[in-house]
Amino acid sequence: MEEKPLQFVRRGEIVSLMGVHPTRTLLEVLREDLQCTAVKEGCGEGDCGACTVVLAEPAGEGLSYKAINSCIRLAHSVHGMAVWTAQDLPAANGALHPCQQAMVDCHGSQCGFCTPGFVMSLFGMYQNRVLAGQTISRELAQTDLSGNLCRCTGYRPILDAAQQMGALPRVTVDEAVVLNQLRQIASALVADYSAPTRLADLLRLRAEQSQAQLVAGCTDVGLWVTKQHRQFAQVLDLTRVEELRQLRRTPDTLTIGAAVTLHEAYAALVADRPQLQRFAERFAGLPVRSSGTLGGNVANGSPIGDSMPLLLAMGATLVLASVRGERRLPLDDFYTGYRKNLMAPDEVLVTIEVPRPVPDEHLRVYKISKRQDDDISAVCLALNLTVREGRIESARIGAGGVAATPVRARQTEAALLGQPWARASFEAATQVLQAEFQPISDMRASAAYRRAMLGSLLLRYWAEEQGELQLEALS
Ligand SMILES: Cc1cc2nc3c(=O)[nH]c(=O)nc-3n(C[C@H](O)[C@H](O)[C@H](O)COP(=O)(O)OP(=O)(O)OC[C@H]3O[C@@H](n4cnc5c(N)ncnc54)[C@H](O)[C@@H]3O)c2cc1C
Ligand code: FES
Ligand code: FES
Repeated sequence: MEEKPLQFVRRGEIVSLMGVHPTRTLLEVLREDLQCTAVKEGCGEGDCGACTVVLAEPAGEGLSYKAINSCIRLAHSVHGMAVWTAQDLPAANGALHPCQQAMVDCHGSQCGFCTPGFVMSLFGMYQNRVLAGQTISRELAQTDLSGNLCRCTGYRPILDAAQQMGALPRVTVDEAVVLNQLRQIASALVADYSAPTRLADLLRLRAEQSQAQLVAGCTDVGLWVTKQHRQFAQVLDLTRVEELRQLRRTPDTLTIGAAVTLHEAYAALVADRPQLQRFAERFAGLPVRSSGTLGGNVANGSPIGDSMPLLLAMGATLVLASVRGERRLPLDDFYTGYRKNLMAPDEVLVTIEVPRPVPDEHLRVYKISKRQDDDISAVCLALNLTVREGRIESARIGAGGVAATPVRARQTEAALLGQPWARASFEAATQVLQAEFQPISDMRASAAYRRAMLGSLLLRYWAEEQGELQLEALS
């Protein structure tokens, strides 16, 4: 096979690089190969945002923009995209971009180490929101900057900059020029980094290249590279597969392609169940949600992963596929042990099917972590009860952080089933829930704390839902 270069558009030119190792990160390519030192390395694990860059790819007539962490993103995954760093934003005459000028005007920088990362998250907001005519509220600024940490300035001036950049004279990207350049980039043909665009090709490659590391958004796998120093001779990237990037709705089911980003997947879940909004925003920070996928979260199967308790409570079904065919499996049956599941080596997760809400459904999900934003759960509890004529008619409860896998709290569900909708029923179920699991003590929380939280969350669910039911009765 004639190997072609890794190519992307930057600073109005097509960058072409030969022989880039499949596990070389975008940050390494930018800093070490292209001497673009405006991109900083802080944590190397997606936590601090110092390495944030903006990617754009064709969408409809124009471009769609995403701020992502370059430290855990594999360089080959940006083939055929446009890349911006803080170095690339000033105009040819040196005039700062509004997102940079606003940081200066609002005194948003002291030591400056975090500043290029903040500027890039602001640039993402500028492209996606300011130019679309949206007003940046304080809350929106906090959500979109949730993946960036600053250790000296304090956030007030940075949030001011986010709100003020829209008042400065507008600067736009000439998308027609970028699109034209992107069209000149041929599809990649790198033997050790495959990124097929059709499901049939993905499945064939999965069967033929059993040694290749399958990756999606790389927000878990990236850390195996940067923190565990693992190198993969071959990588199979599924994020370009069209069939895996689809979202579909029928009256009964929301079907989410496994390569749909967490940001888009949660937006679809929130559209059906608005009460999930705050939970969705607490999954990592925006740059991780813009790269990571729902399929990656489920396939990785961390016992403290956030989506699985919720998907278990909603009764999600997985569709797995290989060259041998397709099969459907309830998520309830998928996990067999710590980070073990029923997926065969030649299979991939194709879609996640989520039942649409039904009348009388009472769904809530709670995440307990040390920080509000950009933190992993110590405990996660999702409760989905249906109540008819004052009785609990069905109950599905998903829990995380309490066992070797994400699990359903079946004994607690049984304890609630058929019981009256009353505090006493939940108090009795609390005893069952606290005895149902044997959580471990680790750096995130002690076993006793986790158990105590389970009980508190169950009662909190009742109290909050009780308030809702009373409001409904009054209206
Ligand atoms: C800073 C930071 C914060 C985070 N915060 C959270 C958080 O709050 N909550 C949380 O739950 N997680 C969190 N994570 C973990 C991570 O973002 C999620 O698990 C994410 O959903 C992984 O998706 P991905 O597409 O990046 O998967 P990848 O890293 O690409 O892959 C993960 C694993 O899944 C496999 N895989 C991926 N897609 C498929 C598929 N379709 N079929 C078969 N196998 C597949 C891969 O082979 C690999 O083994 C965080 C990570 C970081 C770096
Ligand atoms: S270096 Fe901290 S997120 Fe990338
Ligand atoms: S200005 Fe020093 S870390 Fe933010």
